[in-house]
Amino acid sequence: SITVDPTAQGARIDKTMYGVFFEDINRAADGGLYAELVQNRSFEYSTDDNKSYTPLTAWTVSGTAQVVNDSGRLNDRNRDYLSLGAGSSVTDSGYNTGIAVQDGKTYDFSVWARAGAGTTLTVSLQDAGGTLATARPIAVKKGGWARYKATFTATRTSTTGRLTVASSAAAALDMVSLFPRDTYKHEPNGLRKDLAEKVAALHPGFVRFPGGCLVNTGSMQDYSEASGWQRKRSYQWKDTVGPVEQRATNSNFWGYNQSYGLGYYEYFRLAEDIGAMPLPVVPALVTGCGQNKAVADDALLERHIQDTLDLIEFANGPASSTWGKVRAGMGHPKPFHLTHIEVGNEENLPNEFFARFQQFRTAVQAKYPYMQVISNSGPDDSGATFDTAWKLNKDAKVDLVDEHYYNSPQWFLQNNDRYDSYDRSGPKVFLGEYASQGNAFKNGLAEAAYMTGLERNADVVKLASYAPLFANEDYVQWSPDMVWFNNHASWSSANYEVQKLFMNNVGSRVVPSTATTTPDVSGPVTGAVGLSTWDTSAAYDDVKVTAADGSTLLSDDFSGDASKWTHTGSGSWTVQDGQYVETSDTAENTMVQAGDPSWHDYDLQVKATKKSGK
Ligand code: AHR
Repeated sequence: SITVDPTAQGARIDKTMYGVFFEDINRAADGGLYAELVQNRSFEYSTDDNKSYTPLTAWTVSGTAQVVNDSGRLNDRNRDYLSLGAGSSVTDSGYNTGIAVQDGKTYDFSVWARAGAGTTLTVSLQDAGGTLATARPIAVKKGGWARYKATFTATRTSTTGRLTVASSAAAALDMVSLFPRDTYKHEPNGLRKDLAEKVAALHPGFVRFPGGCLVNTGSMQDYSEASGWQRKRSYQWKDTVGPVEQRATNSNFWGYNQSYGLGYYEYFRLAEDIGAMPLPVVPALVTGCGQNKAVADDALLERHIQDTLDLIEFANGPASSTWGKVRAGMGHPKPFHLTHIEVGNEENLPNEFFARFQQFRTAVQAKYPYMQVISNSGPDDSGATFDTAWKLNKDAKVDLVDEHYYNSPQWFLQNNDRYDSYDRSGPKVFLGEYASQGNAFKNGLAEAAYMTGLERNADVVKLASYAPLFANEDYVQWSPDMVWFNNHASWSSANYEVQKLFMNNVGSRVVPSTATTTPDVSGPVTGAVGLSTWDTSAAYDDVKVTAADGSTLLSDDFSGDASKWTHTGSGSWTVQDGQYVETSDTAENTMVQAGDPSWHDYDLQVKATKKSGK
């Protein structure tokens, strides 16, 4: 039973409490939120991005064509271009099954080309069933590189389209692009409407971006032009703004190429369009995510700190300032009202990280005293690194500390009270990444239950975002995820519905309440009956699972057909004399029997007889 005291005043809940975390993982950007339909549009794919790549990945050639990297390039940041022979053509296959077009919709094509006068480029859209739009001829002007455009109206719907550019004479091509006209809010260089709308429907309070491991790992080498724009350089916001053809592509930590077509300007614009607070993360020169390296290069650190100051100027500075002018030039003279910035992500060298963090914080707050500079506590929910990080943050009176954890549904249920005991006078918590990792439906329930604990502690937990946000079903590096998509469709998860429920119903104050018992949902919820977190080195027999109404859902004995049971966990087990016996000592094991037990509600009672002496 739950007791509520409507007269008592609990914690105040900020409107910005629940937000989203966008990281370009699972191909969330190119082929995902970024609406560009052409894959590898600037022929920059390289084995540095992914061993399977070539500069012609996603392209097929008819006739003669080769990718060239020489001084005839479009610009110094866009190294490769395609040299197409006379009478030849190239065809792009897009993402997933191809380029998806919808009957009657408009598509904007553009290309940078260099060719002799009188050259005609013919651009067409087709699939195996034939043409998808009337082909467009483009007359090339004599001279150097120039951008050419054409518009298509699809005459059929297809999810397997191909875009072909044919040339009557030798031509150099780069930045071959096709965008749906109908992007989110009709923004140019815009976002895929269905995906952006799913984010907008959450009404998130903030957007954390661009990572994640994406931000703080990879080479921390110099990233100047002098370095030849080498791939595997660290993520730098300045690489991601300005005209798209001048954004040098880079390797993505998650094993593919990132075009940076979706860059910092587009992230700020998305946050503004959906009424959310922008919350960028900058690298701290300590490489976490399994790499455990602190870069000791004072000049480079200074440069990163200056870049962070420049980023704030890009977001908030007047259009007359150096970086405010870049923003204005991209179409946004008004500021983006940045108030929070995070330095580093999941840093597991807490001392090394904190020394650098302090330098960032001092410099930022000296110039922009209103900025909240967010620190972090490493990759775990507890432990030595976590404790050291928290102590450093507390002693230095840091505003907000980012915590991340991906745990089992049981962990989320058992830790609902995690923040009840947090020091009210210490730094506030930014729960920047969390997710329950177990049975899909059960995850959503465990997260919802856990979020009640976050909300109860809204005076300590100031910001929280589930992770990851997106996954392309054909390019998955991490699961579970909130929103799934392919080249033409998107669908949300139970986790998404939980986030939506909370974000669309943010109260202003917690009404204190107490509950007499913690609900027992220790059994799996769909399609399987399981016993989790058994004692170690024990033996079990006579498993019985009953529903809340007392009816028996499962009554079984290991002596029957033991093969019906699956064991997960790090230990091993055996059946002896009809009993389940662990043969190695492990912290947690799960026994699952497949099959739908037709349970009645979630309040499962799971009982197993523990045999003594084994
Ligand atoms: O959300 C996926 C990854 O999980 C993030 O990149 C990283 O911060 C965490 O380890």
